[in-house]
Amino acid sequence: MGFDIHKSPIDATSARALADRDLRFDLLDTGDIAAYDSWLQAVTRGFHGPVLDADGLELHRTDLVDERMSGVWDAASADPATPIATASGWLTELTVPGTRSVPAWAISSITVAPTHRRRTIARNLIESELRQAQSLGVPVAILTVTEATIYARFGFAPSARIATWKIDPTRARWNGPTAPGRVHIVPTENVRDNGGHELLERLRLSLPGQIQFDGMLWRRLFGTPGTPEAKEIRVARYDDEVGQLQGFAVYRVTRAGHLDASAELGYLLAATDDAYSALWRYLLELDLVTSLTAEMRVIEEPVYWQVTDPRAVVKTAESDHLWTRILDVKAALEARTYSSPGGIILEVDDALGFAAGRYLLDIAADGTASVNVHAGPLGDFDGLALGVAELGAIYLGGASVSTLVRAGRIRELRAGAAEAADASFRSAVTPWLSIWF
Ligand SMILES: CC(C)(COP(=O)(O)OP(=O)(O)OC[C@H]1O[C@@H](n2cnc3c(N)ncnc32)[C@H](O)[C@@H]1OP(=O)(O)O)[C@@H](O)C(=O)NCCC(=O)NCCS
Repeated sequence: MGFDIHKSPIDATSARALADRDLRFDLLDTGDIAAYDSWLQAVTRGFHGPVLDADGLELHRTDLVDERMSGVWDAASADPATPIATASGWLTELTVPGTRSVPAWAISSITVAPTHRRRTIARNLIESELRQAQSLGVPVAILTVTEATIYARFGFAPSARIATWKIDPTRARWNGPTAPGRVHIVPTENVRDNGGHELLERLRLSLPGQIQFDGMLWRRLFGTPGTPEAKEIRVARYDDEVGQLQGFAVYRVTRAGHLDASAELGYLLAATDDAYSALWRYLLELDLVTSLTAEMRVIEEPVYWQVTDPRAVVKTAESDHLWTRILDVKAALEARTYSSPGGIILEVDDALGFAAGRYLLDIAADGTASVNVHAGPLGDFDGLALGVAELGAIYLGGASVSTLVRAGRIRELRAGAAEAADASFRSAVTPWLSIWF
């Protein structure tokens, strides 16, 4: 998309609403280092992080992705230079089913100082981000959240979930295939700076729910530079028979006693089934390790089926992760492909107005779809009445329409419509976002 996200002015509606309360809502001038540092300190404070020292500030300033940052300043506060609220947004690509992606507005750094909470400041920030995305023609907004209670009211819903897996390697004997390539233990830079990101880019469109990312979001997967944690990071890479990088695992091992060691898998990316098998086998066969934990993983891990004792591979948590908000129904739904042809009328309700309307999703035999406003009767089509949040939930194929009908969240306009919609919206690849932002 050929536009500069920094050129459009601050959202006038929210600026007016906040000005009525003597608060200034403005874009951050990232060229003003002192202002930038105050903004960064406000974000860190918002998430109860430590005060950033000079190195921390420098790292954040130089390595953030290209974000449009905004803040709210209170001239009457004791520290008027530090914003009392922060927000940021940037343009990325969200992978959708069908090895395609859709432009997405990623929202982050939403904080409001404890002294100013629950006065609709966050509402003004979030709604301004949604209007910003819409004005730039971006069809969906996405975020990862601290609390699952905040964003439904703005039309977001969980569209891709994550799991924590806990494995007892002393019981989980490898029973899967033997990969023909080799695993190498390498210095972090070997993968982080040489080929790892290219691998991610090569894979990205085959993983619904992933986003395009680089900068700090990429580098911190290997430990935030300068932190004690970064020194403990180990990296194993898998090269295929011709020496091509096909996957890597980032992990660290901590030892409590003489023999008991625990491994934490930070990140594992595999472009091939061989790479997946070889890396998991490597992790499961680490000597002295009696516990292996993997967080933020896909909710269906093939490794469960690759050990002699599947009870040694336990999913200890599963939760919402990527939240999606549809802003433009036509562009969003036309961006993906579908598993089964047919016509489905979608009556979409949206309290904020962006996506409200009655649409016909017309899916061709090849799985591509056209979406148009449909004023006519239901006729022979299937039909669903749903809120924009529910549309976001089913968008990537991560939630079942039938389940949401049973939950009273989606209403069938014709019996059997949920089953038909499930056949179309399902994704052969379970949606997964491998990072938080
Ligand atoms: C979450 C946070 C940004 C909310 O800011 P705020 O200015 O107090 O929120 P608002 O007053 O605009 O509230 C808007 C709505 O969200 C609700 N809400 C706000 N925070 C909530 C929370 N933590 N849990 C549940 N609901 C919440 C409010 O009740 C209000 O609901 P309503 O419009 O239906 O009445 C703020 O508490 C904060 O900075 N928290 C720590 C950082 C954080 O978690 N940020 C979110 C990152 S994903």
